[in-house]
Amino acid sequence: MRFCLNIDHVATLRNARAEIQPDPVTAALIAEQAGIDGIVVHLREDRRHINERDVRLLRELITTKLDLEMAAKEEIIKIACDVQPELATIVPEKREELTTEGGISVIDNITLLKSTIKDLHKYNIEVSIFIEPEIEEINAAAEVGADYIEIHTGTFANAIIEAEQFDELEKIRIAAKLAKKLGLGVNAGHGLNYLNMKIFRELEDIDEVSIGHAVIARAVFVGLDRAVREMIELTR
Ligand code: PXP
Repeated sequence: MRFCLNIDHVATLRNARAEIQPDPVTAALIAEQAGIDGIVVHLREDRRHINERDVRLLRELITTKLDLEMAAKEEIIKIACDVQPELATIVPEKREELTTEGGISVIDNITLLKSTIKDLHKYNIEVSIFIEPEIEEINAAAEVGADYIEIHTGTFANAIIEAEQFDELEKIRIAAKLAKKLGLGVNAGHGLNYLNMKIFRELEDIDEVSIGHAVIARAVFVGLDRAVREMIELTR
């Protein structure tokens, strides 16, 4: 399983004081030195953490790959086409949410997603759609022309009862297998951490995980290099 680090919360800490430190771009370079497979940032419409300067500098400086999480909104699509990340991950976005709360419904947004993907493909940007592990959603993701899906793992991560966690893992396993059959790449993310990755990594059809909060939180205590290396160890 490849592991891409989401560095949004380095920017959250920087913005808490309107300071220049800690710089998410520096964090990306340290994570690359530690062996990460790619860097993920979510350029939100309200710019609460990552800003345009971060995205453009990351584009210039990182040597792995850039995954730009984004809403399918005109302003952000324009920036994505200009910056040309290797991957754009389409997510639903609500201003009042603390973090992305779940997958986008592809079924309810067929026209919007088709045109967004067409625009991004013109600039050779591969497109992933963040969705729930539901059969109909995966079929719809293939129909609108996505290259990847990212399976929302929040329900798995938040499950308190073991049986509930197991059920959700099964759903993800079936969803990932179907996506592979349809020719889609399979990423996964949200709420993955050092404990639940021990179970999650057993899934065969997941190409890549996108993890942020758990690693940045651990980095506060042990340093980013060690926090990243420990997660890499778990994903391999
Ligand atoms: N994938 C997507 C689409 C997300 O929105 C997020 C949160 O920004 C993540 C993965 C990473 O989630 P976490 O920070 O809980 O690891």
